[in-house]
Amino acid sequence: MTSKNVSPHPLDPLNAHELKEVVKHARYLWKLDHRHLFAMVQLHEPSKEVINNWKNSDQIERAAKITLWNSATSTVIEAVITVEGKAISFKEIPGAKSPILSTESEKAIKAAKADKRIIAALKDRGIEDPNQVHMETWPIGAQIPKDLDDGRRLIWTPMWQRPTEFANLYAHPINGLHAIVDLDSGEVVFVENTEIIPIPQTPGPYRENQTGANIKLKDLAIVQSEGPSFSLEGWKVNWERWNLRVGFCQREGLVIHDVKFKDQDKERKIAHRLSIAELVIPYGDPSQGAYRKNAFDTGEFGLGNYTNSLTLGCDCLGEIVYLDAAVTTPDGLIKEIPNAICMHEEDNGILWKHVDADGHTEVRRGRRFVVSSIVTVNNYEYGYFWYFYQDGTIEFEAKLTGIVLTVADAIGKDHPSATELEPGLWAPYHQHILCARLDLDIDGEKNSVLEVESFAYPQGEKNPYGGAYETRETLFTKEKESQRLIDPFSGRYWKIVNEQVKNHMDHPVGYKLIPGHTTFPLALPESTIGKKAAFMYKHLWVTKNNDLEKYPAGDYPFQHPGGAGLPEWTKANRNIENEDVVLWYVFGTNHIPRSEDWPVMPVERTGFHLKPSGFFARSPGIDVAPSKPSCH
Ligand code: CO
Repeated sequence: MTSKNVSPHPLDPLNAHELKEVVKHARYLWKLDHRHLFAMVQLHEPSKEVINNWKNSDQIERAAKITLWNSATSTVIEAVITVEGKAISFKEIPGAKSPILSTESEKAIKAAKADKRIIAALKDRGIEDPNQVHMETWPIGAQIPKDLDDGRRLIWTPMWQRPTEFANLYAHPINGLHAIVDLDSGEVVFVENTEIIPIPQTPGPYRENQTGANIKLKDLAIVQSEGPSFSLEGWKVNWERWNLRVGFCQREGLVIHDVKFKDQDKERKIAHRLSIAELVIPYGDPSQGAYRKNAFDTGEFGLGNYTNSLTLGCDCLGEIVYLDAAVTTPDGLIKEIPNAICMHEEDNGILWKHVDADGHTEVRRGRRFVVSSIVTVNNYEYGYFWYFYQDGTIEFEAKLTGIVLTVADAIGKDHPSATELEPGLWAPYHQHILCARLDLDIDGEKNSVLEVESFAYPQGEKNPYGGAYETRETLFTKEKESQRLIDPFSGRYWKIVNEQVKNHMDHPVGYKLIPGHTTFPLALPESTIGKKAAFMYKHLWVTKNNDLEKYPAGDYPFQHPGGAGLPEWTKANRNIENEDVVLWYVFGTNHIPRSEDWPVMPVERTGFHLKPSGFFARSPGIDVAPSKPSCH
């Protein structure tokens, strides 16, 4: 591994030292006190122009974008400040509400556990010791009870019992009891105590010392005796003909910047910035413990906060290189996350093969470069995996695992929007909907997007034998034309092209976005979650690039009435032909829990591919050398 120590690149995430400096200077400059909470502190990413013109020798001012929550005045403040302490901007955002902050959650849980009404209601359910109760703080992702809906920031507290010290608490949901807590005052403003249902008692053990897991295979070692084939310069990765920058944000977690591929002697730009800009989980069960669980894990929690420290040989196998990350806590402390991002190579089966008529064989093994991170948000784990392949393909895959959310209901009851996993233990139906923000720059910034579909003419002159089909390309000229759904029957995909750069056949060079396994929201568009996450009703959106438009449900989804983000920006119906465009691709899974998803769900996958389409004159895989002399 060659890793050079280099001075920071403008896109390197803020490190622990820089975050500390930023907090210190911000406190001093703006006279912040304990009522000002640091909701987010992220790199203030320089503009595309600055980055594209940046040279190694250039000095840049590293700056942070800070989102503050003034709990005294219930105001969001957005500020930009350099690491050296120079103020650039400081403004209040009217109407915005801060995401849920970890310190507020802790305070809310403490208040709920000490509340006499809760203690009494737990007793009624057979729980004498409130310390046996696990509470979580969730945004009210549906209608807020009318008499409480006065603009306060409120959370509610689903609860589970942990009957013994290491029991799987999700096996024991407590029905019909929630505290509603004002996040700012820390006061329990309402206790919902409705129906009492016996707490399901079938344990859901999954720890090795409980299950005795003993199905073993022989050791599998990944050995790269010469070391991995990639090198790092700071956060820049060089692998095979690819180079890219890894990034990390408190809100989105793992981000990929500045993706290039060396084609013969020319380094060609493919993407400027790739991220998963939102992750929302609408729940389809109207029962009391479930219908509000429509959380925006990115926008309402800050996904990066929950990034795991990864373990070699467990999370990642082989010759691994890690990057560390750091985030700021609401009270301005720095939390370091060692081994936050994992990078390695994987054998990916055969890249290509052909046996000639004369018996001569050529075969190439394919390898892929993987950069990944995993977060834990309450019950669930999400792995974000970006793959780079030797044929010019980029793939994103979300890996979903962890424990399904549970509610209690009467054994065998007619409960049509949930699966009964064990007697009285129900897992509500839900969807995991992700939105990728893909700022692709195919051989430059000015790109256009086309929809490509296959179709057949009726039998006749254009289809004499009935088997003919053609493709139809539709160019999107304005934003509203680009709001599209998938259509597997027509093989629909979207192609992003650069009209100024032609390939060897005089066609514009391009990449195509190929949908993979996905879903469509079942929540009605007029529902609270439907309005807040209106972006999810289209699989594709294309917008004219604007650095301020980063998150598809808007910057502040917490208790937002809806309509923010993509639906709002695209009202302008801006020109997207031959412009710097951003593709937003919405995808996910419809999770109808199976008994086999219990007690911990085996990984489910959802994602998409970006494949070169007329970008290269021929397969880049042809230049890959045989892995052994006997392969050709
Ligand atoms: Co799920």
